[in-house]
Amino acid sequence: MLTFLLNGETVEAEVGPTETLLDFLRERRGMTGTKEGCNEGDCGACSVIVTNEDGVAQAMNACILFMPQLSGRAVRTVEGIAGPNGNLHPVQRAMVEHHGSQCGFCTSGFVTTMAAAHKNGATDYNDQLAGNLCRCTGYAPIIRAAEAASTEDVPDWMNDSAIGADAPYPMPDSSDELATWYEANPDGTLIGGATDVGLWITKQLRELDKVAFTGRCADLQQIEETEDGLRIGAACTITQVLEAVKPLYPSFAEMLRRYGSTQVRNAATIGGNIANGSPIGDGPPALIALGATLHLRKGDTRREMPLEDFFIEYGKQDRQDGEFVEFVTIPKQRDTLKCYKLSKRFDQDISAVCGCFNVVVAGGSVAKARIAFGGMAGTPKRAFNVEKALIGKAWSEENMEVALDGFGKDYTPMSDMRASAEYRMQAAQNMLRRVYVESLGIPASVLEVRP
Ligand SMILES: Cc1cc2nc3c(=O)[nH]c(=O)nc-3n(C[C@H](O)[C@H](O)[C@H](O)COP(=O)(O)OP(=O)(O)OC[C@H]3O[C@@H](n4cnc5c(N)ncnc54)[C@H](O)[C@@H]3O)c2cc1C
Ligand code: FES
Ligand code: FES
Repeated sequence: MLTFLLNGETVEAEVGPTETLLDFLRERRGMTGTKEGCNEGDCGACSVIVTNEDGVAQAMNACILFMPQLSGRAVRTVEGIAGPNGNLHPVQRAMVEHHGSQCGFCTSGFVTTMAAAHKNGATDYNDQLAGNLCRCTGYAPIIRAAEAASTEDVPDWMNDSAIGADAPYPMPDSSDELATWYEANPDGTLIGGATDVGLWITKQLRELDKVAFTGRCADLQQIEETEDGLRIGAACTITQVLEAVKPLYPSFAEMLRRYGSTQVRNAATIGGNIANGSPIGDGPPALIALGATLHLRKGDTRREMPLEDFFIEYGKQDRQDGEFVEFVTIPKQRDTLKCYKLSKRFDQDISAVCGCFNVVVAGGSVAKARIAFGGMAGTPKRAFNVEKALIGKAWSEENMEVALDGFGKDYTPMSDMRASAEYRMQAAQNMLRRVYVESLGIPASVLEVRP
């Protein structure tokens, strides 16, 4: 039995392991305010607010959120954004006053995402609302509404808190418990944020009955700064990782700002981003360029490897049955990391090419170079030949241009709907040019050069 709070009221229900919150709301509760647009996390029409055990309220996409993930948590849908006596929430009032809605299909998603930002005092609306699409109103009136509401107090009824509840499906509290469960159930499926697994259900119509959720493993949700560097638990969300790397590796954080949307980053975990083995995941190239080590665990047996060694070939990773990603460590170092994410849309889009460069120049020469790319091969992959051509040479335009030849030896990119092979190759080479240009202090980012 699942127990959670829905708009302030305790709900108990028998739920399936991969039943989505969107289906539960619309089909079992008749709560049709939460809309289905894409059913894959891309449009934000299904946004709800989820408050976790730490009292953190976050916007999430109900279409790829499984009911067991809500165990003991508090959910607020658009039906619960206005007060019990019908008083509008400040963001609802502002949407009316600033003409923030036309057909209204996207409006409930916008209002919930805006209410979550309002509650958290977040005013970076371009980022907060990047995961909400509107086809008719245009974003300016919506942003104006969000700004107008920001000066008003958070209404009392928005103060949800989680409740103690037993989990309806395996939801280990620790890495030890997870290890025991997975060793005994090696054919089971681990679920982190479900931003990949959610689509297996909603798009591929797969059925999973033996699952365990990592979202309660307290030790896997910690990020520790140690003397040696950073230790990131596998169940940390991209939102957590972004905050942790911001002061240390700002370019990595800037790239993560464009990872999915606020809703996706609030759910997706770094463990899932690595374990899925995607050649176009954004986390691995940056982590590889930083020299990260991956820590795997099966039962009581642990092993570690340089992260790049985990990715063997497309769809194949160095992970045994019953073995899971426990954490990843990044060695302490001076920040020289540059991350460039190239996608068709600036926000809320998977990378066509993601290039991460950790080039250390000392006394005018390249002392160290670790370069890794996503989108250039069947796996996230290091540019060994480019690195070799740079290391030990003067950091000059001439040598950098010579090193560009290395890309042809390192990568044979493919053509797909995101980009052609030729475009990918040229874009990757231009990214190295960009590293060089930026090292001379010349702005190269579209965000820096635009007026
Ligand atoms: C709308 C949308 C936008 C996206 N945008 C981006 C983007 O910009 N950049 C990007 O890189 N990705 C993006 N993704 C992909 C996705 O968010 C990431 O791959 C994500 O990090 C997966 O993490 P998760 O916790 O949601 O994984 P899940 O879906 O829970 O799991 C993914 C896989 O990893 C396994 N797994 C999970 N945790 C572990 C563990 N600890 N050990 C072993 N196996 C584990 C699962 O069994 C499954 O096979 C996007 C997805 C969506 C839906
Ligand atoms: S329906 Fe589009 S994000 Fe959920
Ligand atoms: S008001 Fe019509 S999609 Fe936004």
